[in-house]
Amino acid sequence: MRITLIGPGRAGLSIAYAAKKAGHEIVTVVARRPDAARNGARKLDAVASVLDRQLAPSDLWIVATRDDAIASVAETLAERLGEGTDSPKTAIHLSGLSSIETLAPLREFGVLIGSVHPLQTMPNPEVGHVRLHGAWFGITADPGSYDNLAAFVQSLGGRPFVIADEAKPTYHAAAAAAANFTLVNMVVAQDLLDAVDVPIKVLGPLMEAIVANAVEIGPRAALTGPVARGDVDTVAAQILAVAEHAPAMLGIFVSNVASLARIAGRWDQFADLVDEHTS
Ligand SMILES: NC(=O)c1ccc[n+]([C@@H]2O[C@H](COP(=O)([O-])OP(=O)(O)OC[C@H]3O[C@@H](n4cnc5c(N)ncnc54)[C@H](OP(=O)(O)O)[C@@H]3O)[C@@H](O)[C@H]2O)c1
Repeated sequence: MRITLIGPGRAGLSIAYAAKKAGHEIVTVVARRPDAARNGARKLDAVASVLDRQLAPSDLWIVATRDDAIASVAETLAERLGEGTDSPKTAIHLSGLSSIETLAPLREFGVLIGSVHPLQTMPNPEVGHVRLHGAWFGITADPGSYDNLAAFVQSLGGRPFVIADEAKPTYHAAAAAAANFTLVNMVVAQDLLDAVDVPIKVLGPLMEAIVANAVEIGPRAALTGPVARGDVDTVAAQILAVAEHAPAMLGIFVSNVASLARIAGRWDQFADLVDEHTS
């Protein structure tokens, strides 16, 4: 496919690098600042442009701006179509949360709209484009465009699945719970390990196994450890250690004991311990 990238940030450039590697042509890189467009375009052998210029023809527009800029960028792009820029067959954005309707101004020019959300973290394009290989991509699409977008995702080595437009906020909250909230507990672990001079890397294989179990048999079935076993004395000893070595993390630790006890159906056993340490 011939692709136009609008918004050469972390996600946009990651997808564009992966697309180029897969044999697609990145025709134009569009940014609001000419230097940002030039930087992105150089690495992709593409033409650099800005939003107020006409665009060369392409098959797919990827609007990779931040979520809050998608609607206004779509309106600007619709103006370009109104002035004679050739319509692409399809235009997508990359947000897991925003409705595809943010791209609706493009529909009146015959463009099919959708979103392709990589369930992956892309801190920069060099790392990001490699991580897209094997990642799952949530696709929301106008009727008639899912197959094309799924084929595009597969060409990048990604794994497509359908996500309905109205389901996106719920789906995005799930992704945040898994990807972002897990890091809260990693910070707790880091502070405790720092206190006893153990590097955080030792947790790698354990965390990988926990994640593998959770996606394979489900997180509830994957529960292990003293709370799941109902071992109150062990958890009480852990709480004392946290209070001594990472007191700033005590609230998070105790609230997680409470959540876990409820999920494991052991709240009756842990209620007193939790109350004792909840101010
Ligand atoms: N990064 C990830 O790991 C990740 C993962 C999944 C999905 N996504 C999605 O990908 C999209 C982009 O996220 P990102 O992390 O790549 O953000 P980013 O690194 O901040 O890049 C955003 C790009 O959009 C441009 N932009 C912002 N406002 C604009 C405007 N009003 N007009 C034109 N261009 C504008 C920025 O240009 P300037 O440099 O001029 O600001 C930049 O090139 C979001 O929808 C996000 O939800 C990201």
